[in-house]
Amino acid sequence: MTAQVIACFYHGAVRVRVLGSAAGGGFPQWNCRCPTCEAARTGTAARPRTQSSIAVRGAEGPWFLANASPDLRQQLEALPADRAEDVRAAPVAAVLLTDAEIDHTAGLLLLRESAGAIHVYGSDEVRHALTDGYPVLRILDEYCGVQWRTIERGRVVALDGSSLEIESFAAGGDAPRYLAGSGVEIEATGLVFRDRSTGGVLTYVPGLARWDDDVLGHLATSDVALVDGTFWRDDELLRLEISSRTARQMGHVPLSGAGGTLEALTQLSGPRVILIHINNTNPVLLERSPERAAVLRAGVEVAHDGLEVEL
Ligand code: MLT
Ligand code: MN
Ligand code: ZN
Repeated sequence: MTAQVIACFYHGAVRVRVLGSAAGGGFPQWNCRCPTCEAARTGTAARPRTQSSIAVRGAEGPWFLANASPDLRQQLEALPADRAEDVRAAPVAAVLLTDAEIDHTAGLLLLRESAGAIHVYGSDEVRHALTDGYPVLRILDEYCGVQWRTIERGRVVALDGSSLEIESFAAGGDAPRYLAGSGVEIEATGLVFRDRSTGGVLTYVPGLARWDDDVLGHLATSDVALVDGTFWRDDELLRLEISSRTARQMGHVPLSGAGGTLEALTQLSGPRVILIHINNTNPVLLERSPERAAVLRAGVEVAHDGLEVEL
């Protein structure tokens, strides 16, 4: 019996599936008429994308969801289902959060039909934000219950029922805007997934506000890294007159320019790097743009929904 159970959950490799590769708002965004959103609506120049989320499973064990986007319902339908004994069977065993932003947490409310308490992993700061600022954890508690597990930075946490363990690192940035004026400080985190049976390492950092030695060190030891590709330029939203805030002020290092992500990545030889959490204004979304070509020349890939990678 035990052997059967293990056989049923042994997959042989770590798998990551990009459920949503766009930043908040998705691509196209409902109220946006920027050139890239229009291209996604009208032509073949760019594929539409849902909002930021991935699913990861170890060589042994179930799928885990990293970030719960507002598009979660349709995203989970796309996840290959395991054989289930019960009528109600969740396709993911737990939710891991890199931050408390709306685009990474609104989907938690869509899990309220859960038959049992939802297991959620995140930093203590994120728990506070989601209890007091935007109280989804308190709301969910009344529907299905929440079992919270704190991820402390730099401390390895084993994921129950899986050969994966995770560790988080600081990725910079500010508290979500719903906490503006509250004095609360929250930094986004990156998540490192390590598989105990294969040794495979995946890093996921959809919001990266600074490149420092710690961040570079985590990427250098990864096989695959899913990295913040939100903006091409620092002044992207200003030029389009969409916002007065720069990419850096929003907690995202832009891809281009001095100190940008493509430049930082030249210091790394190790991982397969795939850009994720891409804002709808970013010209790398256009398949034949010079910006996309520059990314590919740098040896970097651009994620799309449904992209699956094994490591
Ligand atoms: C971000 O990635 O910077 C946030 O999700 C922005 C937002 O949705 O307000
Ligand atoms: Mn976001
Ligand atoms: Zn747009």
